[in-house]
Amino acid sequence: MCGIIGYYGNKVVKDVLFDGLKKLEYRGYDSAGVAIYDKDQYRVIRARGKLNHLKERLDGENFSGKIGIGHTRWATHGIPSETNAHPHQVGKISLVHNGIIENYQEIKETLVRGGAKISSETDSELIAHLISQEVEQGHDLKKAVDQIIPKLEGAYSIVATSLDEPDTMIAFKNGPPMVLGLGKEEIFVASDAQAIIHHTNKVIFLEDLEVVKIQGTNYEIFSANGFPIEKNIHTLNMSPEAIEKQGYKHFMKKEIYEQPRVVANAMRDHIDLETLKVALEVLNSEDQIIAAEDLKEDLAKVQRIFIVACGTSYYAGLYGEYLIENMARIPVEVEFASEFRYRHPVIPENSLVLVISQSGETADTLASLRMAKEQGAKILSICNVDKSSIDREAYYRLFMRADVEIGVASTKALTTTMTVLNLFAIYLGTSREQINSEQEKHLVRSLQALPSEMEKVLAYDSFFEDAAKSLKDFRGFLYLGRGANYPVAMEGALKLKELAYMHAEGYAAGEMKHGPIALIDDRMVVVVVAPSDSVYEKTLSNLEEVRARGGHIIAIGTEKNEKLKNLSKHYLAIPKSTWNLNPILSVIPLQLMAYHLADNLGLDVDQPRNLAKSVTVE
Ligand code: AGP
Repeated sequence: MCGIIGYYGNKVVKDVLFDGLKKLEYRGYDSAGVAIYDKDQYRVIRARGKLNHLKERLDGENFSGKIGIGHTRWATHGIPSETNAHPHQVGKISLVHNGIIENYQEIKETLVRGGAKISSETDSELIAHLISQEVEQGHDLKKAVDQIIPKLEGAYSIVATSLDEPDTMIAFKNGPPMVLGLGKEEIFVASDAQAIIHHTNKVIFLEDLEVVKIQGTNYEIFSANGFPIEKNIHTLNMSPEAIEKQGYKHFMKKEIYEQPRVVANAMRDHIDLETLKVALEVLNSEDQIIAAEDLKEDLAKVQRIFIVACGTSYYAGLYGEYLIENMARIPVEVEFASEFRYRHPVIPENSLVLVISQSGETADTLASLRMAKEQGAKILSICNVDKSSIDREAYYRLFMRADVEIGVASTKALTTTMTVLNLFAIYLGTSREQINSEQEKHLVRSLQALPSEMEKVLAYDSFFEDAAKSLKDFRGFLYLGRGANYPVAMEGALKLKELAYMHAEGYAAGEMKHGPIALIDDRMVVVVVAPSDSVYEKTLSNLEEVRARGGHIIAIGTEKNEKLKNLSKHYLAIPKSTWNLNPILSVIPLQLMAYHLADNLGLDVDQPRNLAKSVTVE
């Protein structure tokens, strides 16, 4: 998954491109580059590594042109290197590409047989060769792109320029996201709106197989069958300052601390403050709120729910299973999107497929959505990015309302999703008379208390800032939880893996005795999520088993719990809450623990190695 950007206008092109790439760096950061028109050529400047290496190359360079393209890379084909960095230049063509060309081997063989000189290991360079061949045969750039699109298989969003048309860019989207930004006397194309929001909040979201011809500050959009089309211009309300760090050392830290506020945001539109009932506001694909009676009638037919997602979003879905089955008594199946899309699942009639995705662009989740839709299932999405691919293709749409999440390790997207899942489960439960109005009121009041309870748990920030110094010397980490706390254990382990690059494993606490208990010794940290709920006693006995074997125990429990405290090396108290909200409170210390371990190790918290914020390729 990479970040691409193109610009035409009167500003300093290299600054617009570089600043845009900085905003897109979370999409990939192993190399970067720009191609900017200067006098009678496109000058390409690229650098391996983080964007600051490219900046060093750009400092002092001046360009006469008004047009240029840029790219920040997450390597798929070919190691991170300057040669493999984009933009790729072949003949008169300069090009940036986001995605994967699945038939690149076949294309490469054909090109080499035809005498092409391939200089990089990338699939992207091959696209530039194909376009160059068409332009050399006399086609203009738009026609050349039209000609080569049918030859490509896979996911590819590209922006191409040609020396023959120095005021023109052709942008093409198929898979990875792309937006057009319409400024005053300037025009942008980028992987997402964050890259250009500082310049304009007027954007057009491109759909798959659409082509844009940008000529100066004019643009024309063509549908897959080549006809010119008109598209809605959206005015975004994403504030630029929301994108800055606002004084925190890392975006991730800022986002951990934003959780109480954005969790309050997430529930705001869905609670009737007078009746303390859940009044779920679900949007349809036309951006309209579905009328309550229609929504109730639609969802009353649902007999099974599939929850499909990846990574942290998957663990949110695993948590959602406990909520929905407990509150609404509807069977729920939760699956990794990468498995769901290939296992030919049986999706019975009257099934609802709930897809969860912060970015709304995760390839496996998007593919699962499309497969389920083909089988006739209704799709409900929970996304954070408005008008992202998944959001646009869902039938029912809910939102995390977490604001922009820049840290690659997801935090506030998780807790806002968990909040929305509570609202959804309560809604289903009341509409099926599994929850009465008194129970609903209690659940809603607990939700309303949640943000302030989360504030209290953030206080463990200073504890982990200190504890991280000793925790980093342990050989492994085991995270245990039961019931709705089990997904929290899984998520806690994922955070440590992706941030501190340390081996960690989440496990159902009850499963310990079936093998993993053999791992326990005094060099193993065992994190036990044991708030006061119906499975607390069982979890306590698991904790005693661990203690008997010398494990270094960190326990999370409800308020003062002398027993837990005496059994643990470190005891972390969360405020008294309900079984369904304890997990939202319990995950915060685990986020802080992973954050401080990574920071203490001097690792790149916001952009951990090998990762990308949204995996838009398989
Ligand atoms: C979480 O910290 C990871 N960055 C990753 O697992 C992420 O949750 C996953 O790739 C899914 O992303 P999505 O929510 O944007 O679909």
